[in-house]
Amino acid sequence: GKVAVLLGGRSAEREISLKSGHAVLAALQRSQVDAHAFDPVGQPLEDLLKQGFDRAFIALHGRYGEDGSVQGALELMDLPYTGSGILASALAMDKWRTKMIWQAAGISTPDYVMLDADSNFQEVTDRLGLPLIIKPAREGSTIGLNKVDYAQDMQSAYQTAAQHDSLVIAEQFIQGIELTAAILDDVPLPLVRIDVTEGLYDYQAKYFSESTRYTCPSGLSKILTTRIQEQALYAHRILGCTGWSRVDLILDKNGQPFFLEANTSPGMTNHSLVPMAAQAAGISFDELVIQILELSCE
Ligand code: DAL
Ligand code: MG
Repeated sequence: GKVAVLLGGRSAEREISLKSGHAVLAALQRSQVDAHAFDPVGQPLEDLLKQGFDRAFIALHGRYGEDGSVQGALELMDLPYTGSGILASALAMDKWRTKMIWQAAGISTPDYVMLDADSNFQEVTDRLGLPLIIKPAREGSTIGLNKVDYAQDMQSAYQTAAQHDSLVIAEQFIQGIELTAAILDDVPLPLVRIDVTEGLYDYQAKYFSESTRYTCPSGLSKILTTRIQEQALYAHRILGCTGWSRVDLILDKNGQPFFLEANTSPGMTNHSLVPMAAQAAGISFDELVIQILELSCE
């Protein structure tokens, strides 16, 4: 069949999606798959049918790509696509609803308060302590996210996040080790440990820094690793995610994992974490891409 690699799109993560999508496209072409790029910006998605595509590899990130909307359109066109369906995509895009579901399921996630223009910041800092994280609920790549060290910085951090989303989360800052668990076909891959030389693992540290250090496998004990992988798989399943995803978390000093979010269309750039985790499991980038594509048939 003919595969469309959906890339670009009109979210704030467009640039990252172009990188992910072109990496995926090249991998598919190396594997002799008849694959072509398709950017939903500038052409209606229905053109997929006119152009004879019979499957879509979703390499879009963020809104209108990772949030269930493109998934819904593809369902209506009867085109199989990679990754999670409409509901899981929409839930995972929304860190607030994700946290509520995880809490109900007994998966630990940092304490939080939803903010609006009338929020009493004093009450928020009293409850969550400082530092804390302020972020839009439905964004990716840490866009619009700030760490607040001092109470007087709450207002500007709130305003920054509110520019990206009407839903803004203030979240307790967990001091610890940043980890991510890639899930492929309901199997957790080796954990990736992320060490940033200074500040946060933010947009710059994610995509441009040469000093961000990644360790995979993570070097944590086997017992702890298995426990985290099992919880990550449960976190993925409880949202209804399918195919693949990447679940991000912080491990605190007491060995307690705090789950932050699930990404249903994780980055596939040359700095990205799922390819790194796959590599550590003996799965090459090209094999990973083919596996994700094949999972869309089921
Ligand atoms: N949102 C970015 C692409 C990621 O999770 O990898
Ligand atoms: Mg994300």
